[in-house]
Amino acid sequence: MCKKTYYLTTPIYYVNDKPHIGHSYTTVLADTLVRYHRLFGDEGFLLTGTDEHGQKVQKAAAERNLTPQEHCDSTVVRFQEAWKRLNISNDDFIRTTEARHKKIVQAVLQDLFDRGLIYKAEYKGRYCVPCERFYTEKDLEGSDLCPDCKRSTNEITESNYFFKMSHYQDWLVDYIKTHPGFIQPSFRANETLGFLKRPLEDLCISRPKSRLAWGIELPFDKDYVCYVWFDALINYISAIGYGSDNEKFEPLWKNSHHLIGKDILTTHTVYWPTMLKAMNLNMPESIFAHGWWLMGQDKMSKSLGNVVNPMDMMDKYGVDSFRYFLMAEMSLGQDASFSEDSFITRYNSDLANDLGNLLNRVVKMTIKQFDGVIPVPSPEIGENEKELKSAVENAVKAIQETVENMKLDRGLESIMNAVRTGNRYMEKTAPWTLAKNGETEKLGTVLYTAAEALRIISGLLAPVMPAKMAELSKVLGLDFEETLESLSVWGKLKPGTKMSDLEALFMRIVKEEEKKPEAAAPKKSKPAEKKKEEKKMEKQPETAIEGVITIDDFFKAQLRTAKILAAEKVEGADKLLKLQIEIGEEKRQIVAGIALFYKPEDIIGRTIIVVANLKPAQIRGIESRGMLLAAKHGKELKLVTVDGEIASGASVG
Ligand code: MSP
Repeated sequence: MCKKTYYLTTPIYYVNDKPHIGHSYTTVLADTLVRYHRLFGDEGFLLTGTDEHGQKVQKAAAERNLTPQEHCDSTVVRFQEAWKRLNISNDDFIRTTEARHKKIVQAVLQDLFDRGLIYKAEYKGRYCVPCERFYTEKDLEGSDLCPDCKRSTNEITESNYFFKMSHYQDWLVDYIKTHPGFIQPSFRANETLGFLKRPLEDLCISRPKSRLAWGIELPFDKDYVCYVWFDALINYISAIGYGSDNEKFEPLWKNSHHLIGKDILTTHTVYWPTMLKAMNLNMPESIFAHGWWLMGQDKMSKSLGNVVNPMDMMDKYGVDSFRYFLMAEMSLGQDASFSEDSFITRYNSDLANDLGNLLNRVVKMTIKQFDGVIPVPSPEIGENEKELKSAVENAVKAIQETVENMKLDRGLESIMNAVRTGNRYMEKTAPWTLAKNGETEKLGTVLYTAAEALRIISGLLAPVMPAKMAELSKVLGLDFEETLESLSVWGKLKPGTKMSDLEALFMRIVKEEEKKPEAAAPKKSKPAEKKKEEKKMEKQPETAIEGVITIDDFFKAQLRTAKILAAEKVEGADKLLKLQIEIGEEKRQIVAGIALFYKPEDIIGRTIIVVANLKPAQIRGIESRGMLLAAKHGKELKLVTVDGEIASGASVG
């Protein structure tokens, strides 16, 4: 069978920047998606790189007494090293200062110029130096501050070259409307259509060399260089052989997808498609804009001093747990708030407790009871085995669907659900009692079943945590590379294979405040910053008191405020209402058993509380994604609401 191609790009990052959590998120997400596609049998190709021209680079180089090229050569390494450390499996890394890129940008410029799609005219506008962007008076709406960074802009009048972007406005509107998957999530398509309601102007694509020398020279006018965005966007095609290697270019471009942050939507959904149209090239299959990592409610910025350095996180907690956190914590498309505490909470709950616990139990018992040799299961499988097998099979299905539909966080939740079912399975079947009672056959079945579940789970998690899951497969003695096919078949783990012992794969992190007072370090005066950072990785035996949950357990349920947008009765079901709700920017449908207590028209517009990360369910054939909270007493039922106005999507806890 012919392999499907999947070509995915990240934005190319400004070479002046230091890689931070935002860049890392896009790059890890892209890497994870491509690794999943490779697991599914596709030919994955991942491109990332750096954006190296422009005024800021020219200025930074001058300050360092270096040529701009020397400056770029010394700073690009920061990205290359970060991606190596983060285990990014990119197939190429493009730098816009490379000859292979510059040549293609010039060829595109010349072609558009020859065909009359680039022309020269006088330009008057305001320019923001830090953002390297021109704004018209209309963009600024009477102010002289940059709408993006809020710094002051300078008025500029000069002759420049323009790309006839305005010609493509009607075509673009129509294309977006007739290709629903082109811009994702769909609310970003609406945002672009909103932008396109105003007349689209032609795009100024040059800068006079007298003002900016560090750029790609226009092939038809030596006094000008190319505007950075026009140059940068072309990386997506120059890197894969456009204009130089058609055999490589064609299949990749036909199956291309761009992953970007929401901050660079317009350049990718307006400038780029019109440029491609002018070049007579196909549109990419999709442009997906993800949300932003915020610090609390604030933007991350150098001036606020709240930028998270991914290297620090990896040094402290390890590469794979950082990758897992980034992928699991952010609902794809939405913003997420970063804090070290939320990292530790998720790490402890999903990795140290749930996954680590299951692995530990299976390995330790197999070593103790069967000398580490994976036992033969009995051919008949009981209800408990069926339940675990089905949770694992659901996870396989979910990951395939959620990767295709860009809902990866939900797929990971499904895998974690299989892990938790695995732990419940161990508790229900109590292999320790079976061992005590000498029920060897049953014990063998339990340990085999749990180990087989772990094989599939580790295969499913490998694209997110490649190194840790490779270790896990080694523990299970696996000698083949998993594919979606091998993960879809239950029973591939060979009885008789020797397991190896392992140190805890994910050690529990003990927060300073959790430590017992007598165990805490003597109270010496330390800088506040240092104290805050005192969180240690320690092996901790898990204790459980029946009916009592830990704070980590509680936070597994993501409670969010939601606004009811529409409500209607479910035909043939007296008790059910079908609700359309909004959680932040996301719209969802839930089915709730409240029809005997509330009329649809009475609850529209109310803010309620929902469990946002509940596994979707079919209720009377209708999909329900989440559950609302209500208080019930005897025959009374009241919705749980909030005490006053608050945005939907706010977390509750
Ligand atoms: N050079 C341009 C992109 C040109 S692509 C042809 C650029 N570079 S950048 O260095 O500023 O990177 C922007 C990208 O970094 C965003 O689109 C996003 O992918 C990522 N992030 C930067 N800050 C972010 C967060 N706080 N959160 C998540 N990702 C964000 O723009």
